[in-house]
Amino acid sequence: MRVGLNDNPIFVGRSLSEKIFDRLRGEIDRLRTRRRFRLTGITVGEGWKVFGVPIITRKPGSEVVLGDRVTLVSRPAATAMGISHCVILRVGPQGRLTIGNDVGLSGSTICAVTSVTIGDRVLLGSDVIITDSDGHSLAPEERRYGGFPDGAPNNAVVIGDDVFIGARSMVMKGANIGAGSVIGAASLVLGTIPPNSIAAGTPAKVLGKVPPK
Ligand SMILES: CC(C)(COP(=O)(O)OP(=O)(O)OC[C@H]1O[C@@H](n2cnc3c(N)ncnc32)[C@H](O)[C@@H]1OP(=O)(O)O)[C@@H](O)C(=O)NCCC(=O)NCCS
Repeated sequence: MRVGLNDNPIFVGRSLSEKIFDRLRGEIDRLRTRRRFRLTGITVGEGWKVFGVPIITRKPGSEVVLGDRVTLVSRPAATAMGISHCVILRVGPQGRLTIGNDVGLSGSTICAVTSVTIGDRVLLGSDVIITDSDGHSLAPEERRYGGFPDGAPNNAVVIGDDVFIGARSMVMKGANIGAGSVIGAASLVLGTIPPNSIAAGTPAKVLGKVPPK
């Protein structure tokens, strides 16, 4: 018999009033998020789900496309390992953020100045950070008040289909994670990880291949 977290007795014991409150809160989260999607002018597919309300900001000229059945978890109680903050999606001018179908994000932060592309069926563990820039200029005189540095094509981040990224990992500018790969918890991903690899550490190194099903 397959036993999932939802069958664990630790999750038993919520009162009816708590369940009703959660249901209402879920509906409000959904309405607030739909409004946020509309106000930020992003493209979202069908069947999206949210727990809590994500922060989404984008500059004019940028583009954000979320695929079908994307789940954004922004509430610690809604995921087994918890999260330390809501989902944060920030896209700079001329930036592109594309997220495929059936993708799950839990407390993830994604900053796209150039381009961040996430394939289908990707799972980002709790509190993963993905960035395609250094966030500030490396030149001291421009760093404090200069805003985000400009994008550069080499900095684009690509995460292939069916990738699973462990909790609290960081994916840095220019990273390319091949389809089917698994990244260990608390890893720092730089450069290219070949498809179907298990990689982990700082910086993440390939430890082996994902075993066939
Ligand atoms: C990467 C991972 C999949 C490897 O699991 P595994 O294949 O069972 O591998 P093992 O635990 O046998 O470890 C194999 C080797 O990798 C190392 N390793 C495993 N996870 C590591 C990590 N996160 N960082 C650095 N090294 C790691 C081990 O130390 C071990 O090294 P050794 O061979 O030198 O002793 C797993 O450790 C992991 O991090 N899973 C992600 C969990 C997670 O964050 N889930 C998100 C839920 S929100």
